[in-house]
Amino acid sequence: MIVLGIETSCDETSAAVVSGGRRVLSSVVSSQFDLHECHGGVVPELAARRHVIAIVPVVEQALREAGVDRDDLDAIAVTQGPGLAGALVVGMNAAKGMAYALGRPLVAVNHLEAHIYANWLCDAPDLPEEPVFPILCLLVSGGHTELILMTGHGRFRHLGRTLDDAAGEAFDKGARLLGLGFPGGPAIEHAARVGDPHGFELPRAWLSGTHDFSFSGLKTALLRLTEPMRLAQSNNNSEISSSSRSGPFRAHRAPVYAPNSPIADLAAGFQEAIVEPLAVKTARAALEFGARTVVLAGGVAANTLLRERLRREVLDLCGPDVPVAYPAFAFCTDNAAMVAGAAAWIIRRGDLVGWEADVYPRLPLMRT
Ligand code: KG4
Ligand code: ZN
Repeated sequence: MIVLGIETSCDETSAAVVSGGRRVLSSVVSSQFDLHECHGGVVPELAARRHVIAIVPVVEQALREAGVDRDDLDAIAVTQGPGLAGALVVGMNAAKGMAYALGRPLVAVNHLEAHIYANWLCDAPDLPEEPVFPILCLLVSGGHTELILMTGHGRFRHLGRTLDDAAGEAFDKGARLLGLGFPGGPAIEHAARVGDPHGFELPRAWLSGTHDFSFSGLKTALLRLTEPMRLAQSNNNSEISSSSRSGPFRAHRAPVYAPNSPIADLAAGFQEAIVEPLAVKTARAALEFGARTVVLAGGVAANTLLRERLRREVLDLCGPDVPVAYPAFAFCTDNAAMVAGAAAWIIRRGDLVGWEADVYPRLPLMRT
């Protein structure tokens, strides 16, 4: 089964072709980084407009790189939500148009489910073993932080979630406070490489007795620590000028620090304070619910410290028979391969949608 996937839920225009829910034949991601960088975050209106321009060339490139013809496609899959309404609509309409014109089924995919199914994808010649159920999944992205028990295909049970900021959002806000740029996760990870994670005391919200997380206190603690270190800025001392690119939307003004400020230590301590509760609480839940595999999903799954720490905690608590899996780096952050991959499993359970399918910016993960 060959599926074309389309993903436009946020700031990446992406299309991909995946065979059998696992083998990635092509994956094209057109980033809008240049458009949003000067704003310090994604501007929904700008994102939607750029998707309109990018979607057709991106789909054509994905088909070309996969070496498949439109007629070879068995289904068209698209992200239905959660995400930015105006951005989602572009992908949904493109997918409907193609499915209708080709006479192929339309599959509406939950973005969170797609992130989880990225763990089934492979772009190397040898397909690795599939994750074994029950699977304990830590889903960590810019908008979500959820602990999910997956008992079978399409069967998800929520165990916990963030009570405030998502882990990726915490990375993004922390990076903004430290003047490290956007997106924050990779920026903090890079700065932290030469930092001492024990240089500063930063709080962890353990929320004992629950499987929930919280990162807003950590963000406030970083704000309090860095406030006295910031240099006063005059009006024309902005790091990012109000260039013509910003148009009617406000340009972000990055804080400025003295050259000898301990930014690397702060980044390392901040990263550690996000990663530690995520890894420890996921391992505890894996033990409690008898998981046979632990998987990481979402953009923050690209974080090397989180991958290593989770592996160590699960090994210590659950032993060597419970493997920890995570997608290849390219399939952690938003991409359409995960959408096309998830679609194959959705088709197998007979969940197709009609032309009336709409987008749902707050779509929750299906519960069973
Ligand atoms: O899944 P994703 O691409 O988009 C959403 O669905 O939200 O996740 C984006 C998030 C951003 O917050 C970004 O800072 C974070 O993932 N991220 C990382 C890393 N790469 C991306 N966080 C920590 N370390 C990384 N290497
Ligand atoms: Zn995502």
